Amino acid sequence: MNFNQHYTAVLSSDLLLDEKPIKVTFQNKSVVVIRSNGQIRAYDDFCPHRGAPLSEGFFRDGQLHCPYHGWSFSFENGENTNVPVKNEPVKCELKKIHAIEKFGLIWLCMEADGLMPTLLDEKATIFTSGIINALVHNSIENFLEGSHTHYIHDGLIRSQKTQRQNINAYFVPNESGFKVHYSEEPPKGLITKLTPKKYKNLKSVATYIYPNLTILEYFNQEDELISRFEGIFSSRNEETQYFARIFLNFGIITPLLKPIAGKVFKKVIQQDVEILELQNANLKTHPGNKFVSDNTDLVGQQIFAWLFDQDKIIKEPTNFNLYW
Ligand code: FES
Ligand SMILES: [Fe+2]
Repeated sequence: MNFNQHYTAVLSSDLLLDEKPIKVTFQNKSVVVIRSNGQIRAYDDFCPHRGAPLSEGFFRDGQLHCPYHGWSFSFENGENTNVPVKNEPVKCELKKIHAIEKFGLIWLCMEADGLMPTLLDEKATIFTSGIINALVHNSIENFLEGSHTHYIHDGLIRSQKTQRQNINAYFVPNESGFKVHYSEEPPKGLITKLTPKKYKNLKSVATYIYPNLTILEYFNQEDELISRFEGIFSSRNEETQYFARIFLNFGIITPLLKPIAGKVFKKVIQQDVEILELQNANLKTHPGNKFVSDNTDLVGQQIFAWLFDQDKIIKEPTNFNLYW
């Protein structure tokens, strides 16, 4: 399994303006992304002449111009098209990175036939993105595991005070990650309490798709999908870049819920970012300390297994119980 074979989301589509080169971080390096004539291209953000960042240059007549000595490069294939002081090109080209625009995001991959995840191909009800000063695997675990929600999101998702209930979790592995099916639980936080009866007592499914995608889905008693939360993560210089796409399907009240739901989600994410950054700072001052896990940490353990130690990937479905 090779991380390079998977497309990584690096930018929200609406930030990529026509013919305005933009710098993104991909695999800890800067990459320049350009949109022109309905196409996009990405190149290593490094001018072969003396190494100036091309993202600081400008785009004109189908060429990307370096800000330092003005060497220009073809949008199409990255080949040098002119050296102004010589008035002709030299034989060199920019290092190409494969770029795709999909699901409202720009995705990059080192390999042309890289793997793209299957996500909902419709406009999210709510979209938000940001940077967390934390390592990507800890951020991915945070998005998908529920045991922190009583504490970090006390009153919003679950609550410290409400009596806990024993629920069943059914872990099902597949070839690209796993799903965990959770039995229903009564509404405990603001989000579910506010919604009509039809949308209470929800069952949920948590999905991990290697390497960096997480999905939480909630179903009502009639097995209708009523909300879906996608967390799309990428690692950049010891930090995590995330994109969160939220789909709400509460029928005609969806537009009414959208503003309050948007505020609640941003609050939830802010709470997660705070604890992840505290955890990250603490990990740095306690290097080498190992984590203790038990079977209720299966989600996090299996994410770490997929990312770092694939011999530990569980191949058989398994049940476990949680007090939620
Ligand atoms: S460094 Fe780019 S033209 Fe000289
Ligand atoms: Fe959280």
